[in-house]
Amino acid sequence: MKNDYIPFHKPLVTDDEINEVVDTIKSGWWTTGPKTLKFENEFNSFIGSKFSLAVSSWTAAAHLALEAIGLQTGDEVIVPSITFTATAEIVCYFKAKPVIVDVQEDSFNIDPEEIEKHITNKTRAVIPVHYGGNPCDMDEILKLARLNNFKIIEDAAHSLPAKYKGRMIGTIGDATCFSFYVTKTLATGEGGMISTDDEEIASRCSIMRLHGINSDAWKRYTSEGSWYYEVVAPGFKYNFTDIQASLGLAQLKKLEIMQSARKNIFNKYNSLLADNGLLKLYKYKDDVEPSYHLYPILLDIEGLKITRSQVIDELKNMGIGTSVHFIPLYRHPYYRETYNLDIKNYPVSEYIYPRIITLPIWPGISDSQIDRVTEGLNSITRKFKK
Ligand SMILES: Cc1ncc(COP(=O)(O)O)c(C=O)c1O
Repeated sequence: MKNDYIPFHKPLVTDDEINEVVDTIKSGWWTTGPKTLKFENEFNSFIGSKFSLAVSSWTAAAHLALEAIGLQTGDEVIVPSITFTATAEIVCYFKAKPVIVDVQEDSFNIDPEEIEKHITNKTRAVIPVHYGGNPCDMDEILKLARLNNFKIIEDAAHSLPAKYKGRMIGTIGDATCFSFYVTKTLATGEGGMISTDDEEIASRCSIMRLHGINSDAWKRYTSEGSWYYEVVAPGFKYNFTDIQASLGLAQLKKLEIMQSARKNIFNKYNSLLADNGLLKLYKYKDDVEPSYHLYPILLDIEGLKITRSQVIDELKNMGIGTSVHFIPLYRHPYYRETYNLDIKNYPVSEYIYPRIITLPIWPGISDSQIDRVTEGLNSITRKFKK
């Protein structure tokens, strides 16, 4: 990798993270323990939820949430087409069916009208993905859930912190799952959290995340604990470690500073790309406060002599890392073939997919790096304009 390569993402690391991790390593308590508990409590107060449970990933969190609502073989769960495979694969764990529906053109979020069209008597849940930390149309989704008696498990992998009409993401649906994967707005390498106000969901997730044994089992190695435990279900091992919690505690303290840094980068990109003429910029509605996890742009491919993939290659040759969020689910062989999906049913996703590029946005990216990204992109579109 070239020295001046601008990565798509780089986590913000300061002495806070390093000192907290060193402290944990020296303490000898490396797996789930007091720091995980502290992180859960601080996270829970930050979100304003009743319960927050830390686990090994978003995927683990959402698997547990679906298990806790009693998802069964043959049930259906509605998910958006533009998301990471994890959103749908967890439904498959239950031999239930992920019903993949199209998104809205402006937000790339699940379209409530598409949800409504796909509700059947087997629909048990919807998993709205707040794309790039842009909250979905939750009022519409809540209305449909009430009328049709299904649960809402929010995919907030990108949405820490974000607000919908003044309400924190994590306090709206039946359960909300967050990701602390290294590229996310709060990074612990790997990790996830389930936030819920529902005591039954919280209690079931708490048991199932640790082998189906009682929730304080980790305490059995402390002076407060006892060697005795009982297994009440065949659970999973989805432990969050105190080493991860150390990173989480340090990052949580500066979460809002990191969010405003992302907002500044978003605004800088917008002003430096505003006159490009061959790009469509992503916009937020006034009633949301996004996390600014992604910076997506749509290329005017009709006005260009090269494809989106070639633009990505050109940027790469200039030492600029980018990504595509996401390859729509129905384009992956597994989903397409298993559920016999037809591209024609996804006109909005098919418009977005060949045009989209996500640019580097992370606290710590310098003004000169932002200049290089925007000058690079502007020069490519100038050079390959039809
Ligand atoms: C929208 C979305 N949902 C879920 C996930 C899965 O998160 P994790 O890697 O923590 O399981 C990701 C990860 O990239 C994601 O982007």
